[in-house]
Amino acid sequence: MKIVVSIGGSVLVPDVDPDRVAAYADVLERLVEAGHELAVVVGGGPAAREYISTARELGANEIELDHLGIAVTRLNARLLIAALDDRAAPTPSEDYDSARAALRRGDVPVMGGTDPGHTTDAVGTALAEYTEADVLVYATSVPGVYDADPNQSPDATKYDEIQASELVSLIGSLEMEAGSNAPVDLLAAKLLDRAGLRAAVVDGTDPQAVLAAVEGDHDGTDIIPTHD
Ligand code: UTP
Repeated sequence: MKIVVSIGGSVLVPDVDPDRVAAYADVLERLVEAGHELAVVVGGGPAAREYISTARELGANEIELDHLGIAVTRLNARLLIAALDDRAAPTPSEDYDSARAALRRGDVPVMGGTDPGHTTDAVGTALAEYTEADVLVYATSVPGVYDADPNQSPDATKYDEIQASELVSLIGSLEMEAGSNAPVDLLAAKLLDRAGLRAAVVDGTDPQAVLAAVEGDHDGTDIIPTHD
């Protein structure tokens, strides 16, 4: 299978520590050894948030802040590359074309962000659409898609499965509430709906959840193509 894994920075690098990154590298190498084609996108996590909030206080505008965030995602991509064996492309791909070219060569491309205005959820989804991936796994700090923000509503329930069009509506309503956390951003959900991809949102604090998601037997949420 062709697999794209989008790993949130908050689960890959909750702090700058080698253990979690090494555990992720181990899981990703196992997917390659099992014969899968693999591409990886990583987020910025707490370091990106710290840089962004500091630069905001210094008067940077939103695009400048996005560029700082992108730089941190690429730093995190380099950390993961350092932990992966030599099947990983040696530098982070900065656009979809070079990631696809690396994949075609048989390497594992690792990317951070691309352009201002969205997050790496959208990058992972666009890469999966562009490379016609069979499955996209979002390894995030929330263990699935809930009908409300689980941090704010203790009664929130998790979907085992949700159609991509329903996800778009759900995230649209979650993003209307200030301070709420959506499991993926709205652009990612829209791209997913357009692409008709199979995807899963899993608890990325345990890298093994990525293997379970690829096997279709996990505790998160499956996002399935929209149907009537
Ligand atoms: P992330 O993808 O890490 O956002 O990008 P996040 O939602 O905070 O995810 P976690 O915490 O890693 O799970 C960090 C920031 O980098 C900029 C945005 O400002 C984003 O908030 N960014 C990232 C872009 O502008 N474009 C990109 O393609 C990626």
